[in-house]
Amino acid sequence: MLFKRTHMCGELRLADEGKHVTLNGWVAKSRSLGSLVFVDLRDKTGITQVTFNEDAPAEILEAAKSLRSEFCIGVKGTVKERSSKNANIDTGDIEVFADDLVIYSKADTPPIYVRDDDNVDENLRLKYRYLDLRKNKMQRNLSFRHKVVKVCRDYFDENGFTEVETPILIKPTPEGARDYIVPSRIHNGYFYALPQSPQMFKQLLMVSGTDRYLQIAKCFRDEDLRADRQPEFTQIDLEMSFAGVDEVIEVQEGFLKRVMKEVKGIDIETPFPRMTYAEAMERYGSDKPDTRFDIELIKLNDVFEGCSFGLFTDNLAAGGDIRGICVPGGASEFSRKKIDKLTNEVKHYGAKGLIWIKYEESGISSSIGKYFSEEELKAVLDKCGATCGDIVFIVSGTSKVTYDSLGFLRRRIAGLLGMLDDNQFNFLWVVDFPMFEKDEEGNMRATHHPFTQPKLDELDKLDTDVFSVNADAYDIVLNGVELGGGSVRIHDKDLQKKMFTILGLTDEECQEKFGFLIEAFKYGAPPHAGLAYGLDRLVMLLLGEKSIREVIAFPKNQAAECPVCEAPAPAGEGQLEELGIALAESAEA
Ligand code: AMO
Repeated sequence: MLFKRTHMCGELRLADEGKHVTLNGWVAKSRSLGSLVFVDLRDKTGITQVTFNEDAPAEILEAAKSLRSEFCIGVKGTVKERSSKNANIDTGDIEVFADDLVIYSKADTPPIYVRDDDNVDENLRLKYRYLDLRKNKMQRNLSFRHKVVKVCRDYFDENGFTEVETPILIKPTPEGARDYIVPSRIHNGYFYALPQSPQMFKQLLMVSGTDRYLQIAKCFRDEDLRADRQPEFTQIDLEMSFAGVDEVIEVQEGFLKRVMKEVKGIDIETPFPRMTYAEAMERYGSDKPDTRFDIELIKLNDVFEGCSFGLFTDNLAAGGDIRGICVPGGASEFSRKKIDKLTNEVKHYGAKGLIWIKYEESGISSSIGKYFSEEELKAVLDKCGATCGDIVFIVSGTSKVTYDSLGFLRRRIAGLLGMLDDNQFNFLWVVDFPMFEKDEEGNMRATHHPFTQPKLDELDKLDTDVFSVNADAYDIVLNGVELGGGSVRIHDKDLQKKMFTILGLTDEECQEKFGFLIEAFKYGAPPHAGLAYGLDRLVMLLLGEKSIREVIAFPKNQAAECPVCEAPAPAGEGQLEELGIALAESAEA
């Protein structure tokens, strides 16, 4: 039997008093007090209290006594004003006096509580995700994500974008992560790659005259997981013909303004600030700076030039840097123990140690107090703009180590001191990224990807000083998280070939990997530019969540496994044979 629903469980108010209603949902809680049974009935919109008493038919009251948590039921009854109101829920002014009940499904004792404040281990949450998703907060997150996607489709539709799906079984795209590969049955020994992004296909769409493209695109990257990284994630992927940096930025600011208004009810100001990559690194030690608080990096090379402290002079002589940050009012906040903890943390970023100078009413103290006079330390404090009550942290090392360590530390400290406001949304464009960088092994690679256009007035430096060439690439950053990135693309086949050559690809490799794109550029490629947002990251930040797993229905766990269906799993019998694949002994299950 199916009860036809008249209302959702979060809907009824005092104005509905007297109505005869039908609700469907799950038992969030049931209390049986003899001939009185109270049930909190839950669906994705909220909870309604349902009361069964002796006015209900005897068999219904009897059945109500058997209700347990997570039974799925339907009830009919009359809305009445509650004598003891519950201000914590939207329906807290009313209750429904039931006269009919159907139990659709009984439930075993659930392995996790369906409660927002249940602090159960995340792996258990992910294993029983369907129960976890029954939680009010998780349903709210899913519907919030849906709204963001809807605003996205509406906005870009109104701005002339066409949504196009691109293939999932493709050749590798050069986004810089490891590919997931899929063996071909028809072509034994050959493999498809899952797209790290639809990059090359969206460029082909521009050559095809699609003009403005949108896709809510699944992307796959076999990389280490983090709070804001999943092996399988979703991009809002965009590309525009006849557009350069300013055209892309203008359209995107319109989109973000609209999302903020429609899903958060917040008016944000546009245009957003723009900062060059070089400035972002110098001031914040990061290409995705969190600008919600004022702590900035200060270069201290000149203050320590010629000092007698070997660690500093050796580092400076080797071409290294010394940088510091000043934490206002921080002198009393950081005990030795806390500083030791931070020191261990910055070591992950290559720092050999963390030097500190405290400026307090009682005087100046420092971890390098033995090597410097009080006047010398005061000169450092002055350079950092420190006043009484402040603490200065210093890192000495390569430029990269000072940026990475202090870039991390400023945000870590802001978190510890409660300076990060989840309700403040600081959007920022970081522009003019270097065209090339070195990877961990010292090999040259494209900072963004090899289809990115170098700044056209810097082309001559491609032959003389390649690492100094900047690109027409931009990232959109929100509160210290890279929300999206993109660039103006090369649409000239000769320049594209040159970039591949600089990256060390032979003609054959070029042809093999990207021949189809270079070929397409022979037939009238328009100037084009684009960008992709991480949809999961956008939703996470707008909801104030700390991990994208909170906004993905079925995320992978830290070990890149799907705890629900238990993927990955060994291939079925005969499958490998069909694919012409033999497992190495070490890989056999
Ligand atoms: P990029 O590699 O910068 O650019 O990716 C764009 C955005 O996608 C998100 N993102 C991720 N989100 C979750 N998990 C991951 N593993 C992950 N990796 C990336 C980030 C990032 O900013 N084709 C280009 C875009 C372009 O040039 O148009 C690209 O994919 O938010």
